[in-house]
Amino acid sequence: MAEQVKKPIKITETILRDAHQSLIATRMTTEQMLPIVEKLDKVGYHSVECWGGATFDASLRFLHEDPWERLRKLRDGFKNTKLQMLFRGQNILGYRPYADDVVEYFVQKSIANGIDIIRIFDCMNDMRNLQTAVSAANKEKGHAQVAMSYTLGDAYTLEYWVDLAKRIEDMGANSICVKDMAGLLLPYKATELITALKENVNIPIQLHTHYTSGVASMTYMKAVEAGVDVIDCAMSPFALGTSQPATEVMVETFKGTPYDTGFDSKLLDEIADYFRPMRDEALKSGLLNPKNLGVNIKTLLYQVPGGMLSNLTSQLKDLHAEDKYYQVLEEVPRVRKDLGECPLVTPSSQIVGTQAVMNVINGERYKMVPQQTKDVLCGKYGATIKPFNKEVQKKCIGDAEVITCRPADLIPDELDTLRGEMAQWSEQEEDVLTYALFPQVATDFFKYREAQEKKVDPTVADAKNKAYPV
Ligand code: CO
Repeated sequence: MAEQVKKPIKITETILRDAHQSLIATRMTTEQMLPIVEKLDKVGYHSVECWGGATFDASLRFLHEDPWERLRKLRDGFKNTKLQMLFRGQNILGYRPYADDVVEYFVQKSIANGIDIIRIFDCMNDMRNLQTAVSAANKEKGHAQVAMSYTLGDAYTLEYWVDLAKRIEDMGANSICVKDMAGLLLPYKATELITALKENVNIPIQLHTHYTSGVASMTYMKAVEAGVDVIDCAMSPFALGTSQPATEVMVETFKGTPYDTGFDSKLLDEIADYFRPMRDEALKSGLLNPKNLGVNIKTLLYQVPGGMLSNLTSQLKDLHAEDKYYQVLEEVPRVRKDLGECPLVTPSSQIVGTQAVMNVINGERYKMVPQQTKDVLCGKYGATIKPFNKEVQKKCIGDAEVITCRPADLIPDELDTLRGEMAQWSEQEEDVLTYALFPQVATDFFKYREAQEKKVDPTVADAKNKAYPV
């Protein structure tokens, strides 16, 4: 038997970002992360994804934490491992397109505070929405990874993906990610897709998927055999379900093969031991909904990403309409079709999801239309692969102007105005970016921060701190 060439598969660990975003609504705190950083740093991961995506919003909104402070603390702890973030192209970490100056400054500050790899995607796969972020990452000497938001539909052929990948390579990206946020990529399709990509582009290919439909570890196996360079995994306590395949499982699977990671299984076991009580606690409190842990084969029909599924469940819970869950899931692909058959990933997933909820709750489609749906139909999120449903467009936006240029071309620079608006709260340069993304949430946080800082005299500390006598 001919000796096979060794090609250890590289792993990005997602437990500090996507895994808890997908399973426990992004509620892992910095305090919960820090004690395990030293061990995570010893594993030998290609990178640890720990920032961006929904973590920025959630840490401000729900945890009263400064996301920049979290990043600096993680950077401090990870001495050997590259830190990775997820970045929504022109939408940064927010839910609308921003001016180029904000995008550039955000990339600059992310790298300055410790990010090595920025995974940049656009919810429409409109590459014009990525160019500013990619160029900024190049300029700051960061690794710009461009993600193709993987989705299904007649227009999404193998040729489409290969062509997109070539354009990504041409635009100056350092690597490509196939971002399968809903777990739609089936094992044999992965063979086909990864083989075609490896034949046509030279930069590394990384695969990101979710376990939602139950096929993910088989998909990874096929992708690895087809030559994929990196796979995204999560430590077992926060793996599977709407999260990623388990790190330990993939490591064991490839042991003794040319793809052997060489990771220390005992070390991984110790890391899992650390996170397991957190999982148990989340299950007990209801934060981790068992609904999001099983195989949901319906995801292949509805193409709903993990994060969106848990959002929909909590949105419906708030409306006391949990019985409408499957009706909403059925409405999702119809709304998606009306909106040009875009991929479903933040923010398009939220826009389509919210619209689907409204269509079902109100008993009439497009009776209530949020501004963001209107913006999509006006072209403000970029070009879609298919045309919009004309009737729906007419009902939602009437005769409003529809644009076809790169949306950010119409957004004047914003930084100076934003700095003026939030000057009284500014304690660090990064604060303006926090404010830019979430003005209201940021202001609430700044007020909270100021109040905390005023509590300097321990003798007048509030009653809650009595447990810690000074
Ligand atoms: Co994901």
